[in-house]
Amino acid sequence: MSHACHKHFEQPKEFKFSAENMKHIEQFIAKYPKGKQQSAIMPLLDLAQRQHDNWIPEAAMEEIARILDVPRIRVFEVATFYTMYNLAPRGKHHLQFCTTTPCWLRGSAEVVSACEKHLGIKLGETTEDGMFTITDVECLGACVNAPVVQRNGDEYYEDLTPENVVKVLDDLKAGKTLEHGSKDGRNKSMSAAGTTTLVEQAGKAGIPVATDAAKGKK
Ligand code: FES
Repeated sequence: MSHACHKHFEQPKEFKFSAENMKHIEQFIAKYPKGKQQSAIMPLLDLAQRQHDNWIPEAAMEEIARILDVPRIRVFEVATFYTMYNLAPRGKHHLQFCTTTPCWLRGSAEVVSACEKHLGIKLGETTEDGMFTITDVECLGACVNAPVVQRNGDEYYEDLTPENVVKVLDDLKAGKTLEHGSKDGRNKSMSAAGTTTLVEQAGKAGIPVATDAAKGKK
């Protein structure tokens, strides 16, 4: 059983930033010239989302417009443009799969299918237990480690396969803390065969060095 992201939820009537976040807001506004406080819309939306269980209610957007003294539409148009802002409740783990061309060429469709099958939901849906929401997004800027998924806007899991994405899901469900980055053992964004330049220095640092065979030499 599942439900779509945008169903069955209520908008709170009011939203106030915490005292701590109000201090952050003062700092954000101070970064911009007088009269250009509109530029702080994005960090304030991010603060609202972090304070409010990973989604931004309409009341928060209205509060941001009030604080920055800008028309509400200025806040709404930013919030509705970027996929990093959630305008409805999400599962505990919001997984945003990149399906843009480089990730697609490296198997993102199969990764998404494995995820949908394992969780019993489709893209845009949340599991009945509220544990996972899965969505697809455009390029996450980590194409060198494609295919990639972003969790709750902060963590990237990379070099995904239909097999290792299922382990990611199971580990998250079990409450484990996952390492960011490659899930196939690759050292960050290094060549999958190991380093191919500065090999002497790499050897001294204990970083794997590509073999001649891996480099395509005879
Ligand atoms: S295309 Fe997927 S991270 Fe760029």
